[in-house]
Amino acid sequence: MSDVFDALVAEYPAWWIDFLGEHNHVGGAATTRWLLERSGLRPGSRMLDCGAFVGASARLAATETGAAAVATDLNADFLAAGRAMPGGEGVAWVTATTAKLPFRDRTFASVWSVDSSIAPREMTRVAASTATVCLCCEVPADGRGGVEAFIEEWTSLGWEMRSHRSLSLDALQAWRNAEAAMVAHRAKYEARYGKRGYLAQLDLLAMLVESYERGAAGHGLFIFGRG
Ligand SMILES: C[S@@+](CC[C@H](N)C(=O)[O-])C[C@H]1O[C@@H](n2cnc3c(N)ncnc32)[C@H](O)[C@@H]1O
Repeated sequence: MSDVFDALVAEYPAWWIDFLGEHNHVGGAATTRWLLERSGLRPGSRMLDCGAFVGASARLAATETGAAAVATDLNADFLAAGRAMPGGEGVAWVTATTAKLPFRDRTFASVWSVDSSIAPREMTRVAASTATVCLCCEVPADGRGGVEAFIEEWTSLGWEMRSHRSLSLDALQAWRNAEAAMVAHRAKYEARYGKRGYLAQLDLLAMLVESYERGAAGHGLFIFGRG
């Protein structure tokens, strides 16, 4: 891990940074590679990493495929750290919300949101006529049509689903591991998050574990394509 990332971790006490790390999503770098292999990215094609954090996906895409990657996030500090990390010079860094992207219509060959906020209409607007959308996200998995409704939202915007992989068990394991580590090392995490922050983050994790165990929530990878 780079010194720059370590400095960011020290400055931002948050369970998701502590337990998910640089590739800050369920499945880590293996998830990023799964998406990358199916993204259709080629040298020079434009990739948008929405809610990029330190841009692990954007930097990997730029380095491995030669794509012209752009990383956006609400938090300028995360982007500044990403820019200073390996491969950061090959990415453009733009502070923006995914709900309103400062880019022209139909300009990206691949639009990503990896365990971040998803704005289907806005992401569709900036995607080229021949493009992919690459997602790692929580999906409703309540057995009452939640995943189908999620997929239908994208198909109604002109996309077809090309690949899907469930990560629900991986996510459940990740939340359980984080919850267990926070309990086992309470003193360490109380010192890091503060007493109230510790309890708030533990509550959140307990709620996540409970909803995944109940089957009310799941996690998945999705590749949508058009053209
Ligand atoms: C769990 S991290 C995932 C980061 C990154 N996609 C990855 O996989 O490594 C979520 C990130 O999304 C960003 N974020 C949350 N809501 C956002 C929004 N509406 N627009 C842009 N970024 C957002 C947060 O600041 C945070 O950096």
